[in-house]
Amino acid sequence: MKALILVGGFGTRLRPLTLSVPKPLVDFGNKPMILHQIEALKEVGVTEVVLAINYQPEVMLNFLKDFESKLGIKITCSQETEPLGTAGPLALARDKLVDGSGDPFFVLNSDVISEYPFAELIQFHKAHGGEATIMVTKVDEPSKYGVVVMEEATGKVERFVEKPKAFVGNKINAGIYLLNPSVLDRIELKPTSIEKEVFPRIAADSGLFGMVLPGFWMDIGQPRDYITGLRLYLDSLRKKAPGKLASGAHVLGNVLVHETAVIGEGCLIGPDVAVGPGCVVEAGVRLSRCTVMRGARVKQHACVSSSIIGWHSTVGKWARVENMTILGEDVHVCDEIYSNGGVVLPHKEIKSSILKPEIVM
Ligand code: GDD
Ligand code: MG
Repeated sequence: MKALILVGGFGTRLRPLTLSVPKPLVDFGNKPMILHQIEALKEVGVTEVVLAINYQPEVMLNFLKDFESKLGIKITCSQETEPLGTAGPLALARDKLVDGSGDPFFVLNSDVISEYPFAELIQFHKAHGGEATIMVTKVDEPSKYGVVVMEEATGKVERFVEKPKAFVGNKINAGIYLLNPSVLDRIELKPTSIEKEVFPRIAADSGLFGMVLPGFWMDIGQPRDYITGLRLYLDSLRKKAPGKLASGAHVLGNVLVHETAVIGEGCLIGPDVAVGPGCVVEAGVRLSRCTVMRGARVKQHACVSSSIIGWHSTVGKWARVENMTILGEDVHVCDEIYSNGGVVLPHKEIKSSILKPEIVM
């Protein structure tokens, strides 16, 4: 089976992290978002992943080359010369997706995190015999998503409304699809939205089905959702693979510490924290609801909460970093500084406190 991951877009909502790498390569739970997806696809027998991309394909491919051999999966790029939206890229990659087997193929938004129940999705898709299956999930605030109205018993989709202004329902498109090759006959090679132009038509022909996604789900393309997503992801690890989580007197709740990270004496870490490869967390540090990315250092007695510390950044001694502070790559926060919601661009040095949420360029 094949899969296509929609990788385009500049990831502006996840700046300053996406100033350093394309959104799919931003670390989540100590590895690039896209690796979570590729690993799960591999597990259900996908042999080739096509990345639908509209800028910097070299960066992605260079990075993923290593994983091609490690995971034993083929990774190729399909590059657009203009953004083709969420459906146009399927038409562009048509030859890569259709191999004559008649097998359906997966399509994924690159910024959604879940347990990726792909095996269940395949089963459901085969059972209903329709043209397309989309995974759906319930959310409290459906207006920023695609809303799906479906028949409870069969999953047959009656209506698909992208980003509705008025309330239509609370089941939303999770950005994970399994599509028959015939769907490609509905898509022209031009900028097209799968949500606005393709799904409503398949639904009108009674060929679109929704499967309620078991387990957690989150679109982590925005900092606040990223931090919520980490909590849900770690909760799920607690249930499925508790051995991967850290334990000990210094750990509170669900915490992921990479095996190459070093944690000093007298720290208190958790809940909902990820400490990445090569990080150094010095003595007496307090971390909660945060991500510390590869190569970062948090110095003695600093306190970090509800924040993201970008790659190779440092947080000074006794510093306090909180309230959705996002440090880009290689940011240096001096000793005893307070950051309340600072969004700091890469390579900056922060010498005075940031008292209210603001962008520091
Ligand atoms: N190749 C390519 N070209 N990819 C694109 C383009 C493009 O022109 N435009 C967007 N994408 C990719 C994005 O990188 C992302 O992986 C995916 O398509 C969806 O785009 P987003 O910008 O993240 O959309 P959204 O989050 O507002 O809404 C979508 O996701 C929701 C779930 O998170 C829609 O699919 C909604 O229906 C859905 O509920
Ligand atoms: Mg999104």
